[in-house]
Amino acid sequence: MTRAAITGWGKCMPPAVLSNHDLATFLDTDDAWIAQRTGIRERRITHVLGSELSYVAARRALACAALAASDLDLVVYGSCSAEEAVPNTASGLQYKLGAWRAGAMDVNTACTSFLYGLSSAAGMIATGTIRSALVVGVETISPFLDWDNRGVAVLFGDGCAAVVLQAAEHDDEGLLADKLGCYADSRQILRVRGHGTTYGNRGISYGDTLWDFDGQEIFKRAVHGMSEAAADVLVRAGRAPADVHLVVPHQANLRIIEFVAKRAGIPMDRVFLTVHKYGNMSAATVPVALVEALEAGAVPPRALMLMPAFGAGLTWCAHLLRFGERVTPLDAADVELPPCERTALQMVNELRARKETRGRSAAGLVSPVFPETQVVLAGGTGVA
Ligand code: UT7
Repeated sequence: MTRAAITGWGKCMPPAVLSNHDLATFLDTDDAWIAQRTGIRERRITHVLGSELSYVAARRALACAALAASDLDLVVYGSCSAEEAVPNTASGLQYKLGAWRAGAMDVNTACTSFLYGLSSAAGMIATGTIRSALVVGVETISPFLDWDNRGVAVLFGDGCAAVVLQAAEHDDEGLLADKLGCYADSRQILRVRGHGTTYGNRGISYGDTLWDFDGQEIFKRAVHGMSEAAADVLVRAGRAPADVHLVVPHQANLRIIEFVAKRAGIPMDRVFLTVHKYGNMSAATVPVALVEALEAGAVPPRALMLMPAFGAGLTWCAHLLRFGERVTPLDAADVELPPCERTALQMVNELRARKETRGRSAAGLVSPVFPETQVVLAGGTGVA
């Protein structure tokens, strides 16, 4: 079987920083609570679209692998904040990159989208359908965050990173094992209401979102799913926890990560953390942390990496991957984002004001256009 190896990597973080103190200017919260309960101190807010973040990250990843965009066979856009449902966002990225030969697909499994995308592309490399792929993990969550709900607003941030996948040179290299799962019976405990076709044509504008979010239940299920998946890939690859050089987990809450590491039998000094400075970037979290681990020199040649994650759905997964000898970029890309003229707090206050202006049509999820409409959401509470 041909394994898929990561041969290129690059990230693109929006520069505007939103601190816990910024959040406390409009929410009943404070730095001490957020830091203590989640480990988060600050997060980024984007001033550009996800496709622009992705373009910069992708160019950096391609340069790192010294691969031309025109040699790509597949572009995967892992995200739950795609710019359009039709056409997909991956096709826009394919076009912008000039990846003319590549197929293009969006993958949305919420926070696990990058890793589910990695599995999809790696599977296609294994069967010979493709020889190379660009897999992006990107989230521009700020436009549809429930900013006045302190239970969710303090947790999330924007970000992006991408990897290039190519056939591995050796058998014991690349993606060794992956496990995908989903607790669909709990899909109603993390739901963004007002975002998707269920709500379309019912007078609810994009961005009029309200989040159903049962933090404590998500917490428990996240620990369970990530731990189960991590144990599964280790067993199937015939490796022990002691063999793992570095864990690069999904980073929603420092306490979740600590529980998962403990259950896996891996000490926290072998876990790479970004949660304090970026919060939960959904699909972008794992790839951004992976890129930063490589940039920090925390990934030795032939390192065995464990990447467990969970997200809405509730999807969960883990990936066990061995790097090759090369853990440094072959080249760099001369590409930057346009400068950001506003502070993160200004951008967030603009988003809040816009939502206020439109009125909270999503509040009861009763449509002003079709007020009689009742939509029953599968696995949900039957609201709307
Ligand atoms: O990628 C998937 C994303 N989902 C997640 O990552 C969610 C996972 N869950 C969590 O990370 C945690 O459950 C939270 C961080 C969301 C909440 O932490 P917790 O330790 O479970 O807190 P809690 O919900 O039990 O709330 C404790 C108290 C409550 O007050 P009372 O009832 O004790 O008076 C909350 O009202 O903290 C209050 N609280 C806050 N206080 C200040 C809740 N949110 C905040 C806040 N600032 N932002």
